[in-house]
Amino acid sequence: MSDIKESLLARIANREARIGVIGLGYVGLPLVVEFAHGGFKSTGFEVDLRKAEAINRGESYIPDVPGSQVAELVRKGNLGATTDFTQLAEQDIIIICVPTPLRKTKDPDVSYILSAADRIISTLKRGQLIILESTTYPGTTDEVLRPIFDETGLQIDADYFLAFSPERVDPGNPNFNTKNIPKVVGGITTASSLVATAAYATIVDHVHRTSSARVAETCKLLENTFRAVNIGLVNELAQLCHELDIDTWEVITAAATKPFGFMPFYPGPGIGGHCIPLDPHYLSWKARMHGFEARFISLAEEVNSRMPEHVVGLVTGGLNRHRKAVNGSKILVMGVAYKRDIDDMRESPALAIVESLQELGAEVSFHDPYVTTIHLEGADRHLQGIPLTDAVVEAADCVVIVTDHSNIDYGHLVAKAQLVVDTRNTTRKLKGGDLDAKVIRL
Ligand SMILES: NC(=O)c1ccc[n+]([C@@H]2O[C@H](COP(=O)([O-])OP(=O)(O)OC[C@H]3O[C@@H](n4cnc5c(N)ncnc54)[C@H](O)[C@@H]3O)[C@@H](O)[C@H]2O)c1
Repeated sequence: MSDIKESLLARIANREARIGVIGLGYVGLPLVVEFAHGGFKSTGFEVDLRKAEAINRGESYIPDVPGSQVAELVRKGNLGATTDFTQLAEQDIIIICVPTPLRKTKDPDVSYILSAADRIISTLKRGQLIILESTTYPGTTDEVLRPIFDETGLQIDADYFLAFSPERVDPGNPNFNTKNIPKVVGGITTASSLVATAAYATIVDHVHRTSSARVAETCKLLENTFRAVNIGLVNELAQLCHELDIDTWEVITAAATKPFGFMPFYPGPGIGGHCIPLDPHYLSWKARMHGFEARFISLAEEVNSRMPEHVVGLVTGGLNRHRKAVNGSKILVMGVAYKRDIDDMRESPALAIVESLQELGAEVSFHDPYVTTIHLEGADRHLQGIPLTDAVVEAADCVVIVTDHSNIDYGHLVAKAQLVVDTRNTTRKLKGGDLDAKVIRL
């Protein structure tokens, strides 16, 4: 056993290990770039030929990854991408970063992981380390992946290593990136943990090793369930405060002065992205398999998924004050990406808000500096974004700030608007005479 471990550790230490990353999305691309930047010959494996070609041309399609960095690493020969999975045979370390969506029934869909595993076993060779980074339910690495690899006749530790390491990337966050976010790593065996930890330690500042892959898998689900539940709590508080005519944001700001035992979370139009709305379901599914109901998760989902409806209620109430009906009103939605300063539309609550306003007969348009078109699934239609002009804002009966991108002049927007529903408290810092009359905050 120790010969392949020592040999891999040595190859990692002297940067000879070849790194293959399967799936070059929001998670895989920054990771493969970081390994290439760390001096490793790194290859991205993609099913989407356009992405592989973009990388090989030295271009980035992920806002957090600078194109200049990709170009430089490709030029140096440290970075490349391919759709030819036979090249997996040449890799020492293979990291899986494919999507883990939910099925319509909200059950985990690990088919992308299985497909990546199928590609790996066709060339699996002695000495390789495989790491799963896709978010998934506890047990996936040892109950699902390991039997697939064992089936080849190769044996864990004697022939190959297997570990799980959750990805914590926060797209659009300028302060935290792959390098300075601590990495949690849990192997199927101690040797797997050791080699995986050694690999990540070359490119990230701090690696935390857990005693098993299951702990690492559950750690990721706890982190995102923690967020979903706490956001659910403040979203419920926001709805209650609306009824009681109390300013939720002021309540949270006051509570946050407590130096211990309180962590501020803020309400919003609902939760979005590929993680927070989905990941808790991976945990509750696993819980159900064991006859256990994860009640906090269900409750948070129920509250969070009702927020778009609450926002539509605020729009209706605001228009009513102006003696207008939603039906026939012009409504401008500002920001549709699921969070500030990114272009990711996955699970964005803006979609439910737009659809429901349209169903009520509103004439809805949107502006987003990062998103040009949205697909409305319920209606199976596309809606094109429009440029932001004074005329567009003045003509709108109501402007709804759904996502508070930082490159918008909100003072000017509010000055020109007739009525504003602000779901992000972004107008709080503005000063002006008729601000309170004009702006409704969540
Ligand atoms: N986006 C985030 O902020 C984030 C954060 C932490 C964890 N995660 C987790 O990381 C995983 C990946 O998420 P993402 O946001 O990068 O997804 P993504 O959709 O941006 O990227 C996934 C990529 O994998 C490719 N792909 C799909 N099947 C493949 C296959 N069989 N072989 C090779 N490539 C394949 C897709 O073409 C796509 O480019 C998910 O499990 C997600 O939950 C995401």
